[in-house]
Amino acid sequence: MKVLVTGGAGFIGSHLVDRLIKEGCAVSVVDNLSSGKEINLNPQAKFYKLDILSPSLKKVFSSKKRFAYIFHLAAQIDVRKSVKNPGFDAEVNILGSLNLLSLCLKKKPKKFIYASTGGAIYGEPDYLPADENHPIHPNCAYGVSKHTVEHYLELFHTLYHLKYTIFRLPNVYGPRQDPNGEAGVVSIFIGKMLKGKTPFIFGDGDQLRDYLYVDDVVAANMISLKKGDNRIYNLGSGRGTSVNELFKKLRKIIGFKKEPEHSTPRLGEVYRIYLSAERAKRELSWQPKIELEKGLEKTVSFFKSYPEYL
Ligand SMILES: NC(=O)c1ccc[n+]([C@@H]2O[C@H](COP(=O)([O-])OP(=O)(O)OC[C@H]3O[C@@H](n4cnc5c(N)ncnc54)[C@H](O)[C@@H]3O)[C@@H](O)[C@H]2O)c1
Repeated sequence: MKVLVTGGAGFIGSHLVDRLIKEGCAVSVVDNLSSGKEINLNPQAKFYKLDILSPSLKKVFSSKKRFAYIFHLAAQIDVRKSVKNPGFDAEVNILGSLNLLSLCLKKKPKKFIYASTGGAIYGEPDYLPADENHPIHPNCAYGVSKHTVEHYLELFHTLYHLKYTIFRLPNVYGPRQDPNGEAGVVSIFIGKMLKGKTPFIFGDGDQLRDYLYVDDVVAANMISLKKGDNRIYNLGSGRGTSVNELFKKLRKIIGFKKEPEHSTPRLGEVYRIYLSAERAKRELSWQPKIELEKGLEKTVSFFKSYPEYL
């Protein structure tokens, strides 16, 4: 089966590519390597170093055989960047997605699976854990752009019968997440601690997030090959963990001695968010398998074994 993964050189995308290849799929990857890395690329995948905004994207669709499934993960993922430059964020996340979607109409895949966000679209929540029916009021441009594509998917389904599944992801963590990026507090903390540097905590550290191990996200994507047509699913643990708590857990695993430094909270970030994934449990029989402690241990052990990622 022929499958396309955009963002397949990135953190989540590369794990998904590995799993799809393991299951026997012929995988093509589109990635402009803006945050993704060549070392993440599975050598068995066909790689197109391309921007999703590029008119050349059509060459990926030129072969006679259509893609059965398209997993769309390529995105500008930095919340702060989106606040500073909402135009660029919208170009990549909205126009790039539309470029891809328009190509799907010529050789329609069985389904288009989209990695949206649950952490950045509900705003400061009215209730917790937030479910899919929670009102949408993003407080950063990234949340607006990621959510906008959900509307296009619904529209393309109505107009052109393109099937979709949307996953609203919480804070995903695990091996290969960039410890030098702006997003991904788990890998950033691990990177600093393993290098003996002091991690920063923005704000008081009591902000709550829902941490989900990357393999659990991949598992949900794999289920979407068979189930979940034209549905939106939150993925998450249903539990909030504070940044302070996370720091302590990692400090214990790594044996780090220093205290963190605190600095001012960052614009565009919510204070508390964690997600109810009851719908995914009910309809997809999906639930997280990796407990936070276990996932953190696995992630630390990855970065110790592959220091080139630090
Ligand atoms: N990691 C999380 O906690 C999280 C949470 C919610 C949603 N998501 C979504 O999951 C997806 C994957 O996120 P990730 O954490 O793996 O991030 P990532 O930055 O590791 O992966 C994104 C990939 O997209 C590529 N890319 C960016 N702009 C591109 C463009 N214009 N053309 C082609 N490729 C481009 C990057 O090079 C990178 O490889 C994103 O869509 C993101 O919005 C992630």
